[in-house]
Amino acid sequence: MRILNYGSLNLDYTYHVQHIVAPGETVASSGLEVFCGGKGLNQSIALAKAGASVFHGGMTGEDGDPLLEACRRSGVDSRFIRRIEGRSGSAVIQVERGGQNSIVLYGGANQANKPEFVDEALAFFEEGEWLLLQNEVNGLDYMIEKAHSNGLKIALNPSPFQEDILKCGIEKVSLLFLNEVEGEQLTKKTEPEQMIKILNREYPETAVVLTLGGAGAVYAAGGEVFLCPARKVEALDTTGAGDTFTGYFLSALTDGKTPRRCLEEAAAAAAIAVSRLGASASIPERSEVEKLLNDSPVR
Ligand code: RIB
Repeated sequence: MRILNYGSLNLDYTYHVQHIVAPGETVASSGLEVFCGGKGLNQSIALAKAGASVFHGGMTGEDGDPLLEACRRSGVDSRFIRRIEGRSGSAVIQVERGGQNSIVLYGGANQANKPEFVDEALAFFEEGEWLLLQNEVNGLDYMIEKAHSNGLKIALNPSPFQEDILKCGIEKVSLLFLNEVEGEQLTKKTEPEQMIKILNREYPETAVVLTLGGAGAVYAAGGEVFLCPARKVEALDTTGAGDTFTGYFLSALTDGKTPRRCLEEAAAAAAIAVSRLGASASIPERSEVEKLLNDSPVR
């Protein structure tokens, strides 16, 4: 089963700091690295590493060679990535001790998607295949509408959250990936149980995957709700861990695995990712995830 992941590609300028800078404060960083990232690209790489057949759709700027190279290296089909004049998307990321981060995004080419190009990419896919989306590119409402009318199944990670996402036709989405913060922004509730109840009521056709950090991750659909506990790891850099989770979950699901198994594989992949630096650079190979699952199975 093929997956079109239409999403962002960013150059991540990652600064290592003692603590995330406060308003008006200047801090020195102990290191700067430039990684390939963007929620879209990270999720495509996670899908490919997990074993899925993934095509990335999106835009880069004139500085986009490393992003295309990252696709090629990891087995992501890049035929639906267009290069335009100007800059690619980018992110300034501060990572503090303990792995927590703070991100400033520059949209660049990610905000230059046109319906004609989206149509061309979507036309390559057949009914029943998947479209994965995040919220770092323009035109989400169009993509959801068009993909739905073409009979594609849609997975959405509405991150970073903006109120506009509510107008995008979430009821057409088959699978919704959220973290706690996005769950609260979408439902105005703080308790995961309440979030799930509201989402399942508002969007009865949509399966919900809610990640809860140290408390694990929940799958909820059709009256079925279950939790996969989080793995204990020493976090070095949490950037891209959610994207790793999403890619591994969707790959497992399209491979016919049970939602419970999908959660276990995704949680194991994310646990490895947080123990490494960078976004796409931290995404583990499938063999590493399998080894972790074999060495320490979920109880
Ligand atoms: O989810 C992590 C990603 O968010 C980073 O790679 C950065 O580019 C931002 O898009």
